[in-house]
Amino acid sequence: MDHVLQPVQPSHFAVIAGWLDSPAATLRWAGPGVPFPLPADAFAAALALPARPGWALLDGEGTCLGFGQYWQTASGSTHLGRIIVSPQARGRGLGRILMTALCAEAVRHTDAVQLTLKVYRDNPTAVALYRDLGFVDIEDASTPELLFMACGTA
Ligand SMILES: CC(C)(COP(=O)(O)OP(=O)(O)OC[C@H]1O[C@@H](n2cnc3c(N)ncnc32)[C@H](O)[C@@H]1OP(=O)(O)O)[C@@H](O)C(=O)NCCC(=O)NCCS
Repeated sequence: MDHVLQPVQPSHFAVIAGWLDSPAATLRWAGPGVPFPLPADAFAAALALPARPGWALLDGEGTCLGFGQYWQTASGSTHLGRIIVSPQARGRGLGRILMTALCAEAVRHTDAVQLTLKVYRDNPTAVALYRDLGFVDIEDASTPELLFMACGTA
């Protein structure tokens, strides 16, 4: 089935929010300041859309199965965040498709020379995926809990 990454639409907000099952999961995904549950009408403001563009991964029938955002940080550096795949759809390669497409959009729209992200060290699926896509550990910018990773775009 073909998947496509498109700008997130308000009709996706409740679907994405529904993938979060606890305050702890919400905090790990979004950082502090995002409520649980996350009401659809608070979604855009809580995630700083559209200043931090949000993208939805859709299947061939238009069902939203993944989400991620990016935003510019330092000059030439674009940060990826809030990356998530529907719990029912994990382990089937969609995380890889989502990340590959999100990186391409981030480069296209921000002219980034470097992409960065933060990931909890105890999230081996995500860490392995990001390493496989070319992200490397930046220990100087990391904490005991959170690994900071970067990937050049040249
Ligand atoms: C991280 C996440 C986006 C990955 O999505 P996914 O669709 O499950 O990932 P994929 O199926 O593309 O798998 C990516 C790699 O992880 C590995 N993997 C998948 N499921 C795994 C599991 N249960 N345990 C260990 N590794 C696993 C696979 O080896 C795969 O590599 P491969 O393509 O070489 O086989 C998804 O698990 C998720 O949404 N997690 C909750 C939110 C989150 O943690 N986001 C990351 C914030 S930084």
